Amino acid sequence: MSKSAKLHFNGSEYDIPVVKGTENEIALDISNLRSQSGLITLDKGFKNTGSTKSAITFLNGEEGVLRYRGYSIENLSSKSNFLEVSYLLIYGELPTTEILDSFAKEISSHTLVHEDVKSILDGFPSRAHPMGVLSSLVSSLTAFYPKSLDPNRSAEEINGTIIRLIAKLPTLAAWSYKNRMRQPVMYPNNNLNYTGNFLHMMFGLPTSESQIDPIIAKALDKLLILHADHEQNCSASTVRIVGSSHASLYASVSAGIAALWGPLHGGANQAVIEMLEDIKDQGGDINKFINKAKDKKDPFRLMGFGHRVYKNFDPRAKIIKQAADDVLGQLGINDPVLDIAMKLEDVALNDDYFKSRGLYPNVDFYSGIIYRALGIPTDMFTVMFALGRLPGWIAQWKEMRENNEPIGRPRQVYVGNNHREYIDISKR
Ligand code: SDX
Repeated sequence: MSKSAKLHFNGSEYDIPVVKGTENEIALDISNLRSQSGLITLDKGFKNTGSTKSAITFLNGEEGVLRYRGYSIENLSSKSNFLEVSYLLIYGELPTTEILDSFAKEISSHTLVHEDVKSILDGFPSRAHPMGVLSSLVSSLTAFYPKSLDPNRSAEEINGTIIRLIAKLPTLAAWSYKNRMRQPVMYPNNNLNYTGNFLHMMFGLPTSESQIDPIIAKALDKLLILHADHEQNCSASTVRIVGSSHASLYASVSAGIAALWGPLHGGANQAVIEMLEDIKDQGGDINKFINKAKDKKDPFRLMGFGHRVYKNFDPRAKIIKQAADDVLGQLGINDPVLDIAMKLEDVALNDDYFKSRGLYPNVDFYSGIIYRALGIPTDMFTVMFALGRLPGWIAQWKEMRENNEPIGRPRQVYVGNNHREYIDISKR
């Protein structure tokens, strides 16, 4: 393989070094392109541009492969648990039993948040979307832990900041829900495991692990694992670029939550259920909505379909689809929306518009059906996505900091007015 590519421009030739990853991905390193040639590249949405070298997650969009630190999500989602996967993503290796127990113990001793968080929460009207509340509450952690503002503190102090965030996000997420319901908040019960404690704070459910429905706990844990990281997606890139200015981990993740909220990203799981409900309420006419999605004059898109990287199936969607079927069956729930989703998928996958564009169900297409079966309200679905994605955001921020990456500051091509003199208002 050539060690460099040649760029010929305006009678000059430039050597562009080639970078090869451990999965044989090839990239042109244009770090010195402008200083050599005065040229920059343009790539709206960064569809062809790598922002970093990362050792956290590998995905292959053509083959539907997704691995965290080399372990497949098929293996992890069936054999591991969310806390173990969180440790793997953040620290790079699967923990021993002793290390995992100490990790879990450390987390369970930081689940409480400062009582003043309730005063912040009280400032939000009940109609406030839980994602907006969550992003604000995560940012407010900088006020209660001012040392977290300095990302250059010791590795031990940075780790303390990381542990606090993993421990407190379920509490803040559940409290965002309680604000929506105008119900009193539930305090963490540290006798419960990570997902059990979250269910307890959301629904005042079990006080002991034996009372947690194993079907619900396993389904929730699997969903969190499947959402844990996804390399340089919109929200992870947001966390990295905010962190690259040496903003704190809390400020960076607060920004990541805001980016995830968008319906083209994590907000799609809420939009999917709203779309499926809409189809049901309008008589279940699948073809009408398929045609709307294909009509360029209609802004409607088939939510939960398509992906920037997966131009074949999203491996997470396959696992979640099976889990949705299993969970509804085990819980004895007959959700007509699942039937509509399956029919929609079937029609779309046989339609050339979707096939020719590589539009397949993504992680958000079926996840909402499980959240619904677990009793989680629709506008909390993206909060669930954020809960799952937290270890990935932390791992990405930590890697960016440890690699001492420069502040992110893209270039542009200016297409505005050329120089012009100011004209006094009396003469305009
Ligand atoms: C997530 O990046 C990640 O890794 C994200 C994520 C993660 O884990 O972090 O996987 C999570 O965000 C999943 C995606 C959730 N979003 C949705 O389900 C929203 C619906 N999907 C689309 O808006 C869209 O598919 C995107 C945003 C996901 C991807 O858009 P791209 O890569 O920018 O592609 P595009 O918009 O340029 O679409 C290419 C073509 C266009 O048609 P043409 O101009 O070629 O004629 O496909 C069409 C689009 O109009 N198209 C769709 C469509 N998605 C793309 N047409 C109808 N319905 C859709 N859903």
